Amino acid sequence: VHPETLSQELLAWYDVHARQMPWRVGPGDRATGVRPDPYRIWLSEVMLQQTTVAAVKDYFERFTRRWPRVTDLAAAADADVMGEWAGLGYYARARNLLKCARVVAADHAGVFPDTYDGLIALPGIGPYTAAAISAIAFDRQETVLDGNVERVMARLHDEHTPLPGIKPVLKDHAAQLTPENRPGDYAQAVMDLGATICTPKSPACGICPWRAPCQARVEGTAAELPKKTPK
Ligand code: ADE
Repeated sequence: VHPETLSQELLAWYDVHARQMPWRVGPGDRATGVRPDPYRIWLSEVMLQQTTVAAVKDYFERFTRRWPRVTDLAAAADADVMGEWAGLGYYARARNLLKCARVVAADHAGVFPDTYDGLIALPGIGPYTAAAISAIAFDRQETVLDGNVERVMARLHDEHTPLPGIKPVLKDHAAQLTPENRPGDYAQAVMDLGATICTPKSPACGICPWRAPCQARVEGTAAELPKKTPK
């Protein structure tokens, strides 16, 4: 199957099944020219790094009510930000968050850079976050690789070599599938597929939009992939 066909089939699924999140612009909205707010995409991706979507939602709402723009956050007192972060854990993230907001405010006139290279130069923004923001906020053709995407790629291609060694191969599969058309929606669609259908245990292969092309489904190995090297 042609990669562009695969990605467009996933987008058709996403158009119906996209999860609603407070920072998301729905597939329909994007078509009408509504753009996601890079500040909100950045904040949500930093919060989601070690925390579930369900747990992040309330924190996200409180943060953006109190600090609606990155320049507001940049001007906040450290203790106030740490206070709002309390409970999310991994406090280095909150310190980097504030550092990043202040760099965007001071050095970029409060406007997030719109490229991967511009984003990754900011404090606390690594390869995953830079790719996620450039894809989701700016609709750039960047490949987003998180645990969900790794699992989906390992199954789609029935890769039995364990993580972490197989990572570059999975990244390559993910890159091959990243479409020119709607890369931002596609990035979110793969993550939603991994979170709701292609789940770690008992994946719902019967209702998966990629059930036909999925090699692991053919082999009956989906639930055991990806394999991991024992620690
Ligand atoms: N997990 C992290 N970022 C996400 C996103 N943008 N959509 C769905 N799940 C995610």
